[in-house]
Amino acid sequence: MSLHDSMVADFTAEINNTDSIQGLYNVKVRYLGKKGLISELNKRLGEISPEKRPEAGAEIQKVRLLFEELYGRKEAELKTAERNTTLFSEKLDITMPGVSAPSGSLNPVYKIYDEIISIFGAMGYDVATGPEAELEYYNFEALNMPKWHPARDMQDTFYLSENVVMRTHTSPVQIRTMLKQKPPVRIIAPGKVYRSDYDMTHSPMFHQVEGLLVDKNVSMADLKGTLAHFVRQMFGSDIPVRFRASYFPFTEPSMEVDMGCVMCGGGGCRVCKGAGWLEIAGSGMVAPEVLKAVHVNVHKYSGFAFGMGIERIAMIKYGIDDLRLFFENNLKFICQF
Ligand code: DAH
Repeated sequence: MSLHDSMVADFTAEINNTDSIQGLYNVKVRYLGKKGLISELNKRLGEISPEKRPEAGAEIQKVRLLFEELYGRKEAELKTAERNTTLFSEKLDITMPGVSAPSGSLNPVYKIYDEIISIFGAMGYDVATGPEAELEYYNFEALNMPKWHPARDMQDTFYLSENVVMRTHTSPVQIRTMLKQKPPVRIIAPGKVYRSDYDMTHSPMFHQVEGLLVDKNVSMADLKGTLAHFVRQMFGSDIPVRFRASYFPFTEPSMEVDMGCVMCGGGGCRVCKGAGWLEIAGSGMVAPEVLKAVHVNVHKYSGFAFGMGIERIAMIKYGIDDLRLFFENNLKFICQF
């Protein structure tokens, strides 16, 4: 075996035993580097007789090319193996479901809010709005609640200035609507209202929906039919509804609307305090004083109005006994609906 043959055998064995790019590179340096074996052989060509030199030089060159080729092949092989290893260890299953960001849910008060709008919407009612900071005149006076009225007590009402209050009910939207629009008027006005009160059943901010219908020949039968229809749409067709004489300054006559207790079916329980009935709205025929305040001809037109608490409807519908839960924004509570 010539010197070259044994070198080729050594080189081949070394690179075959190498399993890393770095190791392979080290072999390359030793054989093909500036101070490597091939360079060494080239330097020693001088020691050979001039006639034999070209042949020897060509022989070295052949070996060098062979080494480079073997090296190149091994390097490609190792790089492929290395890439396969990384690809395998970093395996990504693109069919796995993604992780979605946690999402909240509509507050149950607003679920009911939307439902009320759609029930009355189906009966042809438009949605009207008004400001939450309201003129005392629209909130009280125009609704036939003069200065001496007990509901105007400083304890119930948030005053912003001498004649501006946070509206204590949605009834002022009746006034604003009738000042803008001649009869026939058929609106509901849902929104926030404010009272200085806080316990299990009272919150300083809560939601009401006002209803108002003014037209020719409107009677109490229309009011009763409308509210009974609403209760059946919201709570089920088998729920009884009753109307009880009451008093509101802005209606005459006035009625309280009760529905059969959904908890006990009318037998009497803790929720209805043994009565078998739940109070859900105030209502009545719009008082002539109110119609006059907005310049509606009381000889030509009559109307009915009603107002109810949206939280109250939500509490009954979902069986919630603490009003404050609606406002704490606890996702565990809110996401149940
Ligand atoms: N505004 C009343 C309240 O806040 C509710 C109400 C009662 C509204 C009777 C009406 C009505 O329109 O006719 O307690």
